[in-house]
Amino acid sequence: MPTRRLVLTRSAAVMGTACSGLLLPELVRAQSGKVRVGFMLPYTGTFSQLGVAIENGFRMAINEQGGKLGGREIEYFKVDDESEPSKGIENASKLVQRDKVDVLVGTVHSGVQMGIQKVARDSGVLCLIPNAGVHAATRALCAPNVFRTSFSNSQPTRALGQAMVARGHKKAVWITWKYAAGDEAFEGFKESYTAAGGTIVKELGLPFPNVEFQALLTEIAALKPDAVACFFAGGGAAKFIRDYAAAGLKGKIPLYGSGFLTEGVLDAAGPAAEGIVTTMHYSDSLDTPRNKKFRLDYVKAFRSQPDVYAVQGYDTGLLLIQGANAVKGDLGAKPALYKAMEGATIDSPRGKWTMSKAHNPVQDIYLRVVENKENKVIGIAAKALSDSGLGCKMA
Ligand code: PHB
Repeated sequence: MPTRRLVLTRSAAVMGTACSGLLLPELVRAQSGKVRVGFMLPYTGTFSQLGVAIENGFRMAINEQGGKLGGREIEYFKVDDESEPSKGIENASKLVQRDKVDVLVGTVHSGVQMGIQKVARDSGVLCLIPNAGVHAATRALCAPNVFRTSFSNSQPTRALGQAMVARGHKKAVWITWKYAAGDEAFEGFKESYTAAGGTIVKELGLPFPNVEFQALLTEIAALKPDAVACFFAGGGAAKFIRDYAAAGLKGKIPLYGSGFLTEGVLDAAGPAAEGIVTTMHYSDSLDTPRNKKFRLDYVKAFRSQPDVYAVQGYDTGLLLIQGANAVKGDLGAKPALYKAMEGATIDSPRGKWTMSKAHNPVQDIYLRVVENKENKVIGIAAKALSDSGLGCKMA
């Protein structure tokens, strides 16, 4: 038998519900139940390690808070998005409609992100992007409920061109997977390289996630540029680095890239990766107490070395924690939640960063070189670099 008090509480809730438009179970969950966090990440395919590192980093940040968010317990949900753009909307809908998540954390692949973006804009669910750099997410299709904790696709390469010209490489070939991430990375590279006086002699590409590089490497050998710049990531990046060396190009034509090329792949790529110079918003060797502690704790927890993806996942957790604390766990208090996240300074292993008006990190970009299986920082390629936020009504 329900007690009189419970009946009263329930009817009060029902009346409140009628006003707010929420159904009773939703209202109860929104205020007191567990926070429902959904990971939509690649757990299979060429980006599978990236998905795992992001989830690890996120969980680590939450575990540092005793496993809670704004005082509330968390229930996790997971969907493997397979880096498959055609299933993006369906997969995001599973988390939002079926699992009723309060927060969707995802994803890695720019094409899949476009599906999430649509679902996030249509449903209003809070979406935290822990990797995918697709410009539209924080430009023309930006939204109050979407925050990115990683980078925009042209951010890392915007710092690359000038560094290459400064090192004496005036003629370059660009090579990438042909999809949004590669094309937009090229945009940043082209702008910075040509502005510094460099010439791009050829743009080469292959469809994602194809790894048949041989014909393109033969073409590079024939073109004899001063250097090669590229965007590849995950398993495909490891193979590209190995194939580049096997084709006899290593030591003859220096290889550069946005730093994803050498993230999480240094064991798999082996000696072929030594000496590759990249630009990125993180470096393993950042000599700060924050980074050192992060790296030690990560290795202890997961028995593997963290990379930029782990940092991005961790920072996604940090951002959400700041927001949730500001509203004491009531993630339904959206204006206050978003305001706190917009104003947050993230004390990241990469260095402190802030949110741009379009919800993309304003951050330093480091110049790095692979030395003894580590991305060593050798300079700052750009200070407090922001994305243009072009076309974003909030910016
Ligand atoms: C992307 O598709 O946006 C993407 C994927 C992997 C990366 C970086 C960007 O490492």
